[in-house]
Amino acid sequence: MTETVQRQFPTFEKFGQELPKVHTIEDNVDSVKIRWSDGNTRVFEKAMLSHFSSPTPESDLLNPVHELWDKDSFPKAEPADYKMLLSEHSREAERQKIFRSLLKHGFSYISGTPTEHAATIEACRALTVTQPNCFGDDWSFTADLAKPDTAYTNIGIGLHTDATYYNEPMGIQVFHVLNHQGEGGETMLGDGYKAIELLQKQSPESVEYLSNYQLMHEYIDHSTPGSHVRSIGTILTKNPITKEIFRLRFNNHDRCPIPVADMEEFYFHYTKLGKIIQSGEINFRRRLPPGTVLLVDNYRVMHGRTSFTGKRQVSGLYLTRDDWVSGARKHDLVDHFFL
Ligand SMILES: [Fe+2]
Repeated sequence: MTETVQRQFPTFEKFGQELPKVHTIEDNVDSVKIRWSDGNTRVFEKAMLSHFSSPTPESDLLNPVHELWDKDSFPKAEPADYKMLLSEHSREAERQKIFRSLLKHGFSYISGTPTEHAATIEACRALTVTQPNCFGDDWSFTADLAKPDTAYTNIGIGLHTDATYYNEPMGIQVFHVLNHQGEGGETMLGDGYKAIELLQKQSPESVEYLSNYQLMHEYIDHSTPGSHVRSIGTILTKNPITKEIFRLRFNNHDRCPIPVADMEEFYFHYTKLGKIIQSGEINFRRRLPPGTVLLVDNYRVMHGRTSFTGKRQVSGLYLTRDDWVSGARKHDLVDHFFL
């Protein structure tokens, strides 16, 4: 049986009591061995002791693990391989490749995937944990308005993040174009962190305002039983410890009305961000070939789609944020306070 690493110390009983004193210390290269006055002995890693004896760090605007890009510097991400991801022998190496790319670029690919909806799901389950929502567990759809959302039409959709109306928005959005006979239908991506960096240079007070203003988003489906999902939160969300921005929520179509008294200030700042996003400077587009699964960090990278003709079948699902970051943490790719 695997030993638990949960805390076993009786915190509440011990609080206020006299605690054991250090009896002896054995100083080793990377650790210290302490014997306490009650006879207990423990070994502590020096790195861990140093970490917790230092003040909590406050960092820059964004975590340096991210490499920001715009339309002219769109990165060439190394794809993971579907078969290798499914094989137990090579899975961890492929997972690591995907997590690394998600952290650096905010997106990742799985190539060589069979053009079937079941294969999209299989690949994602080999990677991490899925995140069902009011659109279902997963989906394979065409432009038939099966749901009252522009995703289910063939009209163009501007850059946005998904599920802004959830208090815990979806962590990763998965796109797999199974087939498309027709014109257009390019997938658009835009680095939200790049947009935040540009906003910071142009108007730091707007970054501050959008990190504090509590805005509501909602999704309404009038069918039966339908949905009415609503969130309250900031457009930019900071890590409460390091103050890095780690989440962008941006979808002007799903935004709720705001109080009249807030309008002037809100639109002043929100428009600055919106204009950067819509300027075309951060907007990369290309047709996604069938067999390539695209994974997009929905806390960072915005997506959209150009209008199209013909029949276009798209398979997709969402994956949870905490679980893919857990995978990155297990592979030692993120720092201690990374969210
Ligand atoms: Fe979307």
